[in-house]
Amino acid sequence: MQILFDTDCLIQALENLADSAVLNLYRQKRCKGWVASTAVAAILQGAGDSKREGDLQTLLRSLAVLTPTAHDIDLALGHEQPFAVALASRLIKVNGLDAVVTLSPEKFSGLSVSALTPAQLQEKLDAPPPVNEVRLLDITASYHQILNAVEKEIAATIRSGQFILGAKVSQMEERMASYCQTKYAVGVSSGTDALLMALMALEVGPGDEVITTPYTFFATAGSIIRVGAKPVFVDINDVTFNIKPEHVERCITPQTKAIIPVHLYGQCSDMDVILRLAEKNNLRVIEDSAQAIGSEYKGKSAGSMGDMGCFSFFPTKNLGGFGDGGLVTTNSEEFYKRLQALRVHGATRKYYHKISGGNFRLDAIQADVVSAKLNFLEDWTEQRRQNAQTYNQLFKDAAMTPFVQLPPEVFPRHVYNQYVLRVGNRRDELKTFLEENRIGCEIYYPIPLHLQECFKSLGYKSGDFPESEKAAQETLALPISHEVDRRQQEYVVATVRRFFLGE
Ligand SMILES: Cc1ncc(COP(=O)(O)O)c(C=O)c1O
Repeated sequence: MQILFDTDCLIQALENLADSAVLNLYRQKRCKGWVASTAVAAILQGAGDSKREGDLQTLLRSLAVLTPTAHDIDLALGHEQPFAVALASRLIKVNGLDAVVTLSPEKFSGLSVSALTPAQLQEKLDAPPPVNEVRLLDITASYHQILNAVEKEIAATIRSGQFILGAKVSQMEERMASYCQTKYAVGVSSGTDALLMALMALEVGPGDEVITTPYTFFATAGSIIRVGAKPVFVDINDVTFNIKPEHVERCITPQTKAIIPVHLYGQCSDMDVILRLAEKNNLRVIEDSAQAIGSEYKGKSAGSMGDMGCFSFFPTKNLGGFGDGGLVTTNSEEFYKRLQALRVHGATRKYYHKISGGNFRLDAIQADVVSAKLNFLEDWTEQRRQNAQTYNQLFKDAAMTPFVQLPPEVFPRHVYNQYVLRVGNRRDELKTFLEENRIGCEIYYPIPLHLQECFKSLGYKSGDFPESEKAAQETLALPISHEVDRRQQEYVVATVRRFFLGE
């Protein structure tokens, strides 16, 4: 539950900060607590003692602070209700909070927001209503943890006027390189552009072939086409959904320049075999790690094993920005320098272009968001992994394993950007049933790339990659983000059971 603490409630809490019953609910992480920045002066005045400033500072550091926009304030001033009440009510609505906790709920009558006394909040948390909705992903649910840090950094960026690349991007790159166990990282405009730039850095072009999987997001093969090369598809392993390394060798020709394994859903491809093949045949390896930040294979980080690793900061990723963004990692100084130039139209000095690149620059604001979220990434990843285990156990306990194949962790550590079931021939029916029961779910991906219309000229046909085609028919992703709790998972599993067994 997301709660806005009303001024009166916090004035009372300040009287006994260490042992406030209502704050303890928040401290025990039973709800998420917010306070409006505009309430601070009133709280201090209400506490009636300037010595309380230190206490209020401690309190505000533990809560998340909601700052109204000028528009919010304008609307509240024009409202017939008292300003503080109208503003609190607007903040609850526009930020999707669940209730205001106040000593006098009657103030909020007629404002169509839920107003609870501390005792009523306690009651609600002790006996929560049954779950009847689980979103596939609620990006805003983590704002409680990150928003104040992000706002601080974004405000500094706005004030500095340094919007593109610059110190903020460099700092983020350093931290990301360290997180990914690589020497270098280059912040770029998207995961798609990361792939494109990696291919450009390898000088892959017309006449070259690049081996990859057809069971991935479009960008993997799309970027190969964009540099003028030919994607050569290899079918997937039916358990991991990743490229089957044993099939790669027979597709290598004199034209083959590189292999792009995709660490799909957050689990690494079988890199030992791929790297051995690459070395034997003098090929380059680009890891499409867009879904796999923090994933590991035999103790090595995704993006650190090949020549380059490509990451996406698309908002739904485990480490997402507030818009598009991406990153290329590498251990090679040569590639690092080339990537830095490619990102700014190939210039090594302003207006001097030895090679031709593009505008692949990253905004400082995206670096602000990524840096703020990076502090939480390990906790969030562990929570995703815990959620995957919980699903696995719940599905087993519900006797669902004859109906759904659970996603195995073949190469720890899987970071579960997606938790994907294999469902069999009733997948589409199950999807509809889950959606009717307000459970978000998605198919990643319904059409393998070799059957995409735009790749017709490559000459592939239905039946060429049976495992990819089967996976496209049978898989379904369930809500797995770190914000999904056990009760929601129980609802998802019970609904799947109801679909298969009608009970
Ligand atoms: C496997 C894979 N590759 C590449 C991309 C492209 O990333 P972006 O959306 O940031 O361009 C994505 C993102 O959806 C992806 O999932």
